Amino acid sequence: MAIAIICSGGDAPGMNPAIKKFVDYVYKCEQTPYFIYDGLEGMIDGNIKKADHKDVAGIIHIGGAIIGSSRSKRFYEYKYRKQAFENLQKHDINKIIVLGGDGSYNAFGVFAKEFPISFIGIPTTIDNDIYGTEYCLGVDTALNVIRSAVDSIRDTASTFKRAFVVETMGRECGYLAAVTAISSGAEVCVIPEMNFNKKVAKHYLKKDIAEGRRYILAIVAEGTKATTDIKEWLENEIGMETRISVLGHIQRGGNPTVHDRMMAFEFVVRGVALLLKEEMIHQAIGYQNGDFVSMEISVVNSGKYSVPDNILKDLHYLD
Ligand code: F6P
Repeated sequence: MAIAIICSGGDAPGMNPAIKKFVDYVYKCEQTPYFIYDGLEGMIDGNIKKADHKDVAGIIHIGGAIIGSSRSKRFYEYKYRKQAFENLQKHDINKIIVLGGDGSYNAFGVFAKEFPISFIGIPTTIDNDIYGTEYCLGVDTALNVIRSAVDSIRDTASTFKRAFVVETMGRECGYLAAVTAISSGAEVCVIPEMNFNKKVAKHYLKKDIAEGRRYILAIVAEGTKATTDIKEWLENEIGMETRISVLGHIQRGGNPTVHDRMMAFEFVVRGVALLLKEEMIHQAIGYQNGDFVSMEISVVNSGKYSVPDNILKDLHYLD
């Protein structure tokens, strides 16, 4: 039986360990693994190839995805989805592991309503914003990349008595910013989920400065679009020279951490097992309360992820 893997949307560290496990495990199950290269764009263009053990040798420690990924505008059009299905048919593929985020889940939700394909989604995005799972592949690596950057910024901030606004990725989700702020001991954290109370923050930061505080770290989630505003507030209201550091795409790179490798293996083995067990299935795997679960894709696609309260409660000056 042919089973394919595709990476779709923003890449995340952990994709390569997942791809390696996929090939090894599918062969172990005596089935045939296929790669769909370059995401949905590659599926439309028929960029599909049988995978071999040697294709995945020496990739376990590398960020990104050796099979490529893409965001596809063409896939919104029925004619291209039909073309993609016909390409899959040429290889007798009707079972697919999808490494991607909510955009990819939505795309496959539509695709599977129109054509007889089975798929299992594996939550893969540094944003950690998929409903039904506490963890998405790539998040631990991204958090460690951010931690390393913030540790370095703190060195220069404290030397120069400056404030720094560090902007993290995450789209509309403040998870990366919130966990970074807590684990880096940042004074300020601004996320889309809650209101940042400037008045209360000003009171305490001014007091701290009067007592000898030399620097301020402010972690701002990109989804707030408040990076410049917070910089101006720190300079004009708090009275500290301020610099902005937008971390950008370095957050998507880096060698996958041990945690991301282990999670990749667990997700993939479960995903392949489900595809082999069920004739027709459209689900996503999630991680909840220390265990792996699978949920109908329609449920995942209609839900909204929220940052857990136990994280939000540890942030300062939010209401
Ligand atoms: O979804 C992952 C992500 O890195 C977001 O955090 C960010 O907003 C977006 O992708 C950036 O997209 P692109 O790589 O297309 O610029």
